[in-house]
Amino acid sequence: MATVVLVTGGTGLLGKALEHIIETEPVGSKFGKRPNETWIFASSADGDLRDPAQTNKLYEKYKPTHVIHLAALVGGVYKNMKYKLTFLRDNILINDNVLHAAYTHKTVKVISCLSTCVFPDKVEYPLDENKIHNGLPHESNFGYAHAKRMVDVQNHAYKEEFGCNFTSAIPTSIFGPHDNYDLEAAHVIPALIHRCYLAKKNNTSFIVGGTGKPLRQFIFSYDLAKLFVWMLREYDDVEPIILSVAEEEELSVKEVADAIIKAMAFEGHYSFDTTKADGQFRKPASNKKLIERMGSFQFTPFEQALDMSVKWFIENYDTARTGNKKAA
Ligand SMILES: NC(=O)c1ccc[n+]([C@@H]2O[C@H](COP(=O)([O-])OP(=O)(O)OC[C@H]3O[C@@H](n4cnc5c(N)ncnc54)[C@H](OP(=O)(O)O)[C@@H]3O)[C@@H](O)[C@H]2O)c1
Repeated sequence: MATVVLVTGGTGLLGKALEHIIETEPVGSKFGKRPNETWIFASSADGDLRDPAQTNKLYEKYKPTHVIHLAALVGGVYKNMKYKLTFLRDNILINDNVLHAAYTHKTVKVISCLSTCVFPDKVEYPLDENKIHNGLPHESNFGYAHAKRMVDVQNHAYKEEFGCNFTSAIPTSIFGPHDNYDLEAAHVIPALIHRCYLAKKNNTSFIVGGTGKPLRQFIFSYDLAKLFVWMLREYDDVEPIILSVAEEEELSVKEVADAIIKAMAFEGHYSFDTTKADGQFRKPASNKKLIERMGSFQFTPFEQALDMSVKWFIENYDTARTGNKKAA
């Protein structure tokens, strides 16, 4: 049977990484494109997924047998706190339309993308797949988190009532080429890359918000893209799966900033603004289930992945998503 894989959010950080992997993996690679496959990378211009009619039209046009659902309203803490209802509503609408259209069009399989933000604020670490619904998410992103949690609820309900093969992935913080570098909306790595770039360009200090001590697990978008391809081919369980490097691979914000300075060859003044909030000290997630199910996986060493991401940003500064601060 011919396979048509529709990637929603195909123009974002992760969508672009999937496109890169699908197009560049060598023949015979288990992460590469197969001869009978067509891949469609859709953007919001191909259809606003908040609208059921436009979503249906997209399904009618491409008739996907498989959907990798990445489209979402995504943002950093500031945006999430300011637009709680918009994050809740837009993401609920997008997810409901994508899943329901998949059901009505008899799509064989859907993999939706959640986030470790879905986990309860008060929880025993490490995070694992069984703890998603065990308490309220952090109030700073409660709109986004509740909308994402509902995908897991819907996946179970679609399976129980209609036997649908819908599942979800839970990645930790993603970075890579085509990230969102808008300083109002960016996550930690793209924000620091952008700030360091501006400090170098304008001969000013590189200032990192907070103490630099918090620890996080970061996953390179190209590695994550391969894990999604593996899920597409091999993972047929409704239960979500955390896609992450191991807990031992946590890095401090300072380690990340040091690596950015090195990759950017920045030689100016560098300091921490300790008046800025640090956020949670750590929120480690376990990748035990992933490794048990997949066997081993070779993650790209952090410095190498970061180097590629910084290089991409420098080479694509004029077209990258840098927001209003571009002229700074
Ligand atoms: N970035 C992270 O660190 C992170 C961590 C964990 C999980 N995730 C999840 O991973 C997935 C991908 O994230 P990302 O960082 O790649 O996002 P991104 O770079 O912000 O890209 C978002 C994508 O969604 C599309 N989109 C947004 N609103 C849409 C709408 N109303 N209709 C149709 N398409 C719409 C965008 O299309 P346009 O280009 O046309 O705007 C874009 O392709 C998301 O589900 C996100 O929740 C991200």
